[in-house]
Amino acid sequence: MTALTDIRAQMQAADLDALVVSSKPNRTWLTGFHGSAGTVVITPAALYLLVDFRYIEQAKVQAPAAHTVMYKNLYPTLREQLTSLGVKRAGFESSHVVHKMWQRLQNEMPDITWVGVDTWIEAARGCKRPEELAALEKAVVIADQAFAAILPAIKPGITESDLALELEFTLRRLGAERMAFDIITASGVRGALPHGAPTDKVIERGDLVTLDFGAVWQGYHSDITRTVAVGNVSDKQREIYELVLAAQLAGIAAVAPGKTGREVDAVAREMIAAAGYGERFGHGLGHGVGLEIHEEYPRLAATSEVELKPGMVCSVEPGVYIPGWGGVRIEDMVVVTESGCRVLTTSPKELLIV
Ligand code: GLY
Ligand code: MN
Ligand code: MN
Repeated sequence: MTALTDIRAQMQAADLDALVVSSKPNRTWLTGFHGSAGTVVITPAALYLLVDFRYIEQAKVQAPAAHTVMYKNLYPTLREQLTSLGVKRAGFESSHVVHKMWQRLQNEMPDITWVGVDTWIEAARGCKRPEELAALEKAVVIADQAFAAILPAIKPGITESDLALELEFTLRRLGAERMAFDIITASGVRGALPHGAPTDKVIERGDLVTLDFGAVWQGYHSDITRTVAVGNVSDKQREIYELVLAAQLAGIAAVAPGKTGREVDAVAREMIAAAGYGERFGHGLGHGVGLEIHEEYPRLAATSEVELKPGMVCSVEPGVYIPGWGGVRIEDMVVVTESGCRVLTTSPKELLIV
């Protein structure tokens, strides 16, 4: 079954005549339309894409499988559309519809029974289609190329902010449409901040520097972290680095269809805990990556019962963060295969001393 067929089967089971989809990644995934505003209506037989004047021509090109409808005011047009289709029960995305929109759906379409639907589309998005995987792989290649290109810029005297700026230019020059998220450059003691935003701190000899960044290509994201040593490396820095690397490799080796996100997370977590740093690894091992930088399908975490399936793409990114000392994180993206996983990221992982 195609993923859209799965969603229609769920609609039928819930006795829904239509599903109204307003969140951007879900809208894009369903139709191919990349505009910033628009509403999709899924019915058992067709897909409709409602857009305003700015996007009507773009929608026709990007979403050829959908019937495009132009609106001046969304709610009256949506009401007309649903009424003409004879819709009596319609689903809405309960995780994305804000209270005001929910009120308008209820108040302006009172004859329709509105039913909150959660994560149907997000779950279907978990297994990437071949063209999605190709776009993700290109986003990963751009990030890998950018890491190689930025290495000479990591040296004593440059600030974290200037390094992030150089990296952003590099990613854009290499073809990134935009940054996958705000670049993280955390050096020295600031490496203890898992999401340390760049500051004016000057990078010094003896610092570990964590770079976490990604590119967007055709709407799809990449996500890579590397930690490098500047000038020289202490025994403790090397010990922590080797521990995180061993946990990362074990985590990757554990990724396989049929496993849950919790089981994969546990493999890397137990290794770090056995070395005495369990408390210093306070986030999940990984997350799905696709049209969004952080996707639930699959999340690799102690709380995740999501089952891995071939075609799912996720990060594997253990870290150890020690306040007052610094930190190490190493992050690759992988795609789940029939027998395990394939690592998409190709940047070197041995401790680089720059
Ligand atoms: N910086 C986002 C992440 O690695 O998940
Ligand atoms: Mn990252
Ligand atoms: Mn990540």
